[in-house]
Amino acid sequence: MNVPVARPLLGAEEADAVRDVLASGMIAAGPKTAAFEERFAAFCGVPHAVATNSGTAALHAALLAGGVGPGDEVIVPSFSFIATATAVSMCGAVPVFADVDPDRFTIDPGSAAGLVTPRTKAAIAVHLFGQCCDVPAIADLCADRNLLFVEDAAQAHGAMLDGKKAGSFGDFGCFSFYATKNMTTGEGGMVTTASDEYDARLRRVINHGQSEKYLHTELGYNYRMTDIAAAVGLVQLERLDGFNRRRQENAAFFSSHIRAPGIATPTVSPGAAHVYHQYVLRVGEGRDRLAAALRERGIGTAVHYPVPIHRQPIYAGLKAVCPVAEALAASVLSIPVHPGVADEERASIADAVNEVA
Ligand SMILES: Cc1ncc(COP(=O)(O)O)c(C=O)c1O
Repeated sequence: MNVPVARPLLGAEEADAVRDVLASGMIAAGPKTAAFEERFAAFCGVPHAVATNSGTAALHAALLAGGVGPGDEVIVPSFSFIATATAVSMCGAVPVFADVDPDRFTIDPGSAAGLVTPRTKAAIAVHLFGQCCDVPAIADLCADRNLLFVEDAAQAHGAMLDGKKAGSFGDFGCFSFYATKNMTTGEGGMVTTASDEYDARLRRVINHGQSEKYLHTELGYNYRMTDIAAAVGLVQLERLDGFNRRRQENAAFFSSHIRAPGIATPTVSPGAAHVYHQYVLRVGEGRDRLAAALRERGIGTAVHYPVPIHRQPIYAGLKAVCPVAEALAASVLSIPVHPGVADEERASIADAVNEVA
């Protein structure tokens, strides 16, 4: 057996779509990018979506469009991919690290509330591993304290809470289409927003601060998506619900078959549709031994994430108290749940976990 922990599913339809774009001669941002934005916005149930060339660019552009800059603080969970925090630093603002909820692994609203100061401008809530965070609590906190609410939905395409999609709750929803995500364009990203004003600002930020052709009214970046990527994205978006259903089936299988003592399978909050970007076990002390034993059997695993962000060397100067993030970093292990995992493979993975744990 050789099952990687993540693998994109790309086929003839994506290849045909790319070939059509190449033949058209319009390979930069053009009609495919516009169509992808429109369909992604409709998928999320929001009026606007702006395509970017990465999820990091999506976060940076959202924060800039929201007015985050030097002197501001932005509350972020410490247990996430580094880009959640570095996007804040890229604005010249300071990330302030909140702890996470031990069950859902997402930002702990109580911890976040305790970090608000007069300088706090925004909170970024990550829908980690494919499950929405405690959106009502974060939305209330942001409304009460007049903060921008930015969703980092890089791992949550199609995830829902109480019937609403990730990316439709905050001032901005930021997605990544990196190769391992629930849908991919190779590299790519998207920002969703309900605001016409934010949509216009985002479009300037991602296109050199240009308000009219060759008229630059503010500092901007080249964060545009290409039509080559958008063509792949349009096909992947059509396939996304099927991909997510298969992830959910694989996850349901693991949750009912993994029975090893001392291993906790993921929990799903009431009202949540989890799309299992990752299926993350809590293993405790035997984590690295289990990972090595699975590797010997050809089963890929990964640790998402081994170092909480407040412990990263780049943030060594910042103070943070995040004991749950630290405990998770020492105990989590992701096993393959992606839609390419076949029935026999998932059975072997569950058996292997039960045997060696
Ligand atoms: C939670 C989270 N935020 C942000 C990003 C950044 O996205 P990208 O790699 O597309 O820049 C990622 C993915 O890599 C992510 O998982």
